Amino acid sequence: MNAIVAVDANWAIGAQGDLLFSLPTDMKRFRTITSGGTVILGRKTLDSFPGGKPLPHRRNIVISRNLDLTSEGAERVSSPEEALALAEGDENVWVIGGGSVYTALLSRCERVLLTKVDSAAPEVDTFFPNLDKLPNWKVESVSEPIVENGLTYRFIDYVNTAL
Ligand SMILES: NC(=O)c1ccc[n+]([C@@H]2O[C@H](COP(=O)([O-])OP(=O)(O)OC[C@H]3O[C@@H](n4cnc5c(N)ncnc54)[C@H](OP(=O)(O)O)[C@@H]3O)[C@@H](O)[C@H]2O)c1
Repeated sequence: MNAIVAVDANWAIGAQGDLLFSLPTDMKRFRTITSGGTVILGRKTLDSFPGGKPLPHRRNIVISRNLDLTSEGAERVSSPEEALALAEGDENVWVIGGGSVYTALLSRCERVLLTKVDSAAPEVDTFFPNLDKLPNWKVESVSEPIVENGLTYRFIDYVNTAL
């Protein structure tokens, strides 16, 4: 299992229920990498998708304590552990957020595919753990910079040396 995330210069990932940046090349890469696989996400991240609908062409496992949550094309589970159990045996499993779900499942991820934006977003309220401060996470590769919508960003792959 891996995680995929876009962070700003301070490891922020969201504000007021939404993403911080619009990065078309990054979104396309996210689609390509996760399509055909299983995505594990929190209920608030599901709410942030267009129409609150799950992502097409992927198995969507949504974590929520709300037993009444139904969303066509999504499977609801009550905890991160239950999500892992349901995804067991799936080949291409991606933790796709948000902050609470990344934090809960990070230690179980072999890799994090990080999109790192050079600048700091002005208003933020949700963060990804700073992998540069965690001893078991090492940078595996760094892409050339991409410039888009006035922002510079890189794809940085981290590997979990504890697994
Ligand atoms: N930059 C990126 O790559 C990226 C990716 C994804 C999301 N985001 C951003 O991240 C923000 C959302 O993150 P978030 O942390 O606020 O919310 P979240 O992780 O998406 O969802 C939180 C919800 O998930 C459920 N949940 C989480 N942990 C649980 C547990 N242990 N047991 C049972 N249910 C649990 C709860 O749902 P209920 O309240 O229904 O019980 C909780 O309210 C948004 O701003 C979004 O745009 C950014």
